[in-house]
Amino acid sequence: VDKYAVIGNPIAHSKSPLIHAAFAQQTGQSMSYEAILAPLDGFENTVETLRENGYKGLNVTVPFKFEALKFASAHGKVNSFAARAGASNTLIFNMDAGVIADNTDGVGLVNDITNNIKFDIRHKRVLVLGSGGAAYGILQPLVEAAPDSIVIANRTFAKAEEAANRLAEIVQASNSAILSLPKRFEELDGLQFDLIINSTSAGLTDTALPISDTIFAEGCLAYDMMYGRETPFMAQARRNGAQVADGLGMLVEQAAEAFYLWRGVHPDTKPVMDKIRALAR
Ligand code: ATR
Repeated sequence: VDKYAVIGNPIAHSKSPLIHAAFAQQTGQSMSYEAILAPLDGFENTVETLRENGYKGLNVTVPFKFEALKFASAHGKVNSFAARAGASNTLIFNMDAGVIADNTDGVGLVNDITNNIKFDIRHKRVLVLGSGGAAYGILQPLVEAAPDSIVIANRTFAKAEEAANRLAEIVQASNSAILSLPKRFEELDGLQFDLIINSTSAGLTDTALPISDTIFAEGCLAYDMMYGRETPFMAQARRNGAQVADGLGMLVEQAAEAFYLWRGVHPDTKPVMDKIRALAR
């Protein structure tokens, strides 16, 4: 039995063990997957011990995604999605290459939007709300989905500018012509978007974002990366006629992509998503 785990702090509420157990059962993979709490100052030691004990890979969650990237730079290599994100949510322990850091968050988001929600991102006007780690994680896969433009808006404008600079680098490297711009929330007035992704943590405190009701274009998809609650952003989008999605699909899809990186098999995400939604009710 090949061993895997998710490592974080806190970790008790992680749904990843449930999701990966379902994937393993469905695809007949012989593997175990557990949740491991690492001390806040003990990420490296914990990972080293797991590796010595024969684990094949790890998912990494809050607050260790940045440290995971550093760890792989020192002990192996960092794949492009993780490098662009500046963080890693998936480590692969490879016999030859050492520790490989990847990031499946953005691919998970784009797969959920494209395959499950069946919203075509190509040629759309995209708005990303927030400029923290969650926003960085989705930039490269979003660019690869080929929208016409990506605007990044953030409360702290300097961070929106930094994120837009990273985005411009990715756009340039991908030889595409996607327009990328930083904005303040109040500068969004008068603009409209087809896809609006909320990556801020404002929903955690039930805080509404200072965005105008008019930014939701006809046929807009409003996607909140948070799950398990109706955020003020989701409620506002609904009031303004947008189609609304929470981050549960992204959670399952990022797991599926990690599973694929480890096992070379794509699990069917639909039944697992249904199961998690049923449990959440
Ligand atoms: P994460 O890794 O989840 O992205 P983070 O790096 O702390 O966490 O980023 C949180 C994001 O949510 C930031 O963009 C933050 O805005 P600031 O850069 O201005 O701090 C945003 N955010 C958090 N609470 C917010 C609120 N009440 N209103 C608007 N934005 C908020």
